[in-house]
Amino acid sequence: MTLDLDTSAPDAPECADDGVWLACIACGSTFAPFEDVRYTCDDCESLLEARYETPPTFEDFGDGASTDGPDRGVWRYREALPFDLGVTLPEGDTPLHEAPRLEADVGVETLRIKHEGMNPTGSFKDRGMTVGVRVAEELGVGALACASTGNTSAALAAYGGRADLETLVLLPAGKVAAGKVAQASLHGARILEVDGNFDACLDIVQELAARGEAYLLNSLNPFRLEGQKTIGFEILEAFHADHGTYPDRIVLPVGNAGNTAALYKAFRELVRSGALDVDDVPKLTGVQAAGAAPMVEAVEEDADEIRRWEDVETRATAIRIGNPVNAPKALPGIRNTGGTAVAVSDEAITDAQRALANEGIGVEPASAASVAGLRKLRREGVVDADERVVCLTTGHLLKDPDAAYEAGNDPEPVANDVDAVLELLAD
Ligand code: F0G
Repeated sequence: MTLDLDTSAPDAPECADDGVWLACIACGSTFAPFEDVRYTCDDCESLLEARYETPPTFEDFGDGASTDGPDRGVWRYREALPFDLGVTLPEGDTPLHEAPRLEADVGVETLRIKHEGMNPTGSFKDRGMTVGVRVAEELGVGALACASTGNTSAALAAYGGRADLETLVLLPAGKVAAGKVAQASLHGARILEVDGNFDACLDIVQELAARGEAYLLNSLNPFRLEGQKTIGFEILEAFHADHGTYPDRIVLPVGNAGNTAALYKAFRELVRSGALDVDDVPKLTGVQAAGAAPMVEAVEEDADEIRRWEDVETRATAIRIGNPVNAPKALPGIRNTGGTAVAVSDEAITDAQRALANEGIGVEPASAASVAGLRKLRREGVVDADERVVCLTTGHLLKDPDAAYEAGNDPEPVANDVDAVLELLAD
């Protein structure tokens, strides 16, 4: 495998702050991390990523019994983050479920489900937000904003509220699941419903951020991905503790491709420190809904850039995205780890959602895309029977009650009478 990384520890540039700086992934320009608000490279407008003088080892994360900081969740990984602590609810430390019936049904040696729906607001976004809001405080901004298919808005509203900052969210009108709008609303965000899709919302909010109206906390913001990196650390640690080895493959839903980029970054940092052997890096395998699959298209065509899809549609509204902004970070992650990307139908997503639910794991449709994708790749022989796989489920079932209701059993009306109940049960 060829991992696209430089294994020597980089010298900190002069602009570094306590061993942390921002670097452009395209031209390499470096910037001070917390002096000015900046989302992309001043010189070439490409994506930025946080860099550290000292990459982390597993020992740095402690054994869960540390006394000099949180010993659970995202901030246990503070040695790999730009700060030691932030606004926390707390987040992370999510379960890595076994799913024996699904494992047998899919036909792989090991299947574990990393359920990010168990975070405080019900999605992985909390991991990014705890770090992103901490950076917002450092920068001294007064208001936070995001475009969202729903989950980011819920997390932004909750973490922004806790930090006593104003929050503004732009949502694609009519295309956000009920639970997510309810969260953003009750946590106090100002909600604008835009007559356009998520990508249009992101265009607008980027422009607002560029004009200094608010601090942007979409995954374009490199610090969001720092928090989301901890998903990768947790999976590797927990899988190794249970199986004595690392997973061969991690399958995850892809929208803006932030998690794909974040997991790749987590693995690169561990390889750089010598904590992880390059041969042990899991194959990053992205799954998109067939109606919103520009990343899959790029991977299949071996293209360096994605083509923006203007018309996107899927029941998995969380990943109804046609212009994955993190593609320049995520495409190398998929390729260099030996992974792939696959598109699945909405029907396959609903089937997978039911199969997970039958094992007691309640997820929203976008999350189930990971299992649907694994099933498809296993059927096609891309995934082998002897593989050890982790599927990431990104959001909780209750986020999208309408989808759950449609996928599940219908309630049956019955008279207020034991005999009537028995009669019905006898049918
Ligand atoms: N799964 C869920 C449940 C999501 O909410 C999202 C993204 C993804 C997967 C895709 O993750 O962007 O890292 O590839 N939701 C964003 C939002 C866009 O606004 O809540 P990604």
